[in-house]
Amino acid sequence: MNPPARISLARLPTPLEPLSRLSAAYGTRIWIKRDDLTDTVASGNKIRKLEYSIGQALAEEADVLVTWGGVQSNHCRATAALAARLGLKSHLVLRGSEPNERDGNLLIDSLVGAEITFAPPERYQEMDHTYKHLQAQYAGQGLKTYRIPVGASDEVGLWGYINCANELKQDFESAGISPDAIVSATGSGGTLAGLIIGNALHGLNTRVVAFNVCDDEAYFKQKISKDFILWKDRYGSGLDIDQLPINVIDGYVGPGYGRATPEVFETIREVARLEGIVLDPVYTGKAFNALLQEIRSGKFEGLSDIVFIHTGGMLGLFPQKQKLFESG
Ligand SMILES: Cc1ncc(COP(=O)(O)O)c(C=O)c1O
Repeated sequence: MNPPARISLARLPTPLEPLSRLSAAYGTRIWIKRDDLTDTVASGNKIRKLEYSIGQALAEEADVLVTWGGVQSNHCRATAALAARLGLKSHLVLRGSEPNERDGNLLIDSLVGAEITFAPPERYQEMDHTYKHLQAQYAGQGLKTYRIPVGASDEVGLWGYINCANELKQDFESAGISPDAIVSATGSGGTLAGLIIGNALHGLNTRVVAFNVCDDEAYFKQKISKDFILWKDRYGSGLDIDQLPINVIDGYVGPGYGRATPEVFETIREVARLEGIVLDPVYTGKAFNALLQEIRSGKFEGLSDIVFIHTGGMLGLFPQKQKLFESG
């Protein structure tokens, strides 16, 4: 198998740490993989995927990284920050209208010099059309664009979490544990897809489970199965992808993508106070709250060690700071 070109961007390996006070409170050993520490400005899970996506962009001699996401997209912020770090340009197409205040991720997008187009939901969906337009616009300036899909979740980007699975294998050996589950949030599917393949490829011998923060279980099963096929065709793996279990636990989206229930904010406060770790209301707080609810209801009973992947996203907390205290 030939993995794609990779450029080293993240501070790796990230630590695997026990959450001792939370573990005592919930009667289950919970660990946290600190992928929030992959960088400062480009922190979180996206940088692992972008090591491959941008590696590919550089191999194709691109000058401008074009990508899509919500106004508070962590992926867009990481892409913009890395483009600046590498002397490239970035153009972000953000779903929605321009807010009055540039806060959180959007503040960083602006600070690092990203070009930003705000697009209403219908226009946002016309990605092929928008990309062709931007491609022609930049070509007119003698610049080559490279298209990175939402969340860098395609057969290229998912190598980031195949690689993380290999890192986790070494973490487990060092900690002397054989976890029964690796748990994460899923938003565009790439982190989960990479972890599932990595689990099989590197022989972690565990179960990978994700809580969806948008869409539903059927959507993610379909998206991830499709990415598995693209990955296998492109990189020529002998892995039997049809046999790989895609475990998505639905039911915790709450009021919608980017919107959280008071329980999620309560979990964010609990984890911050007990462990000094900051989660966000869009991804990690929602998924961690879901994990605690599953533990409380006995669904994770008998599991010896559970590893939660902290995929970052702290900047997404700032635009919602009001709700953090309203519910307290
Ligand atoms: C902080 C954070 N956690 C988790 C996710 C979900 O990862 P993925 O998009 O690979 O499913 C995202 C992005 O969607 C994210 O920004």
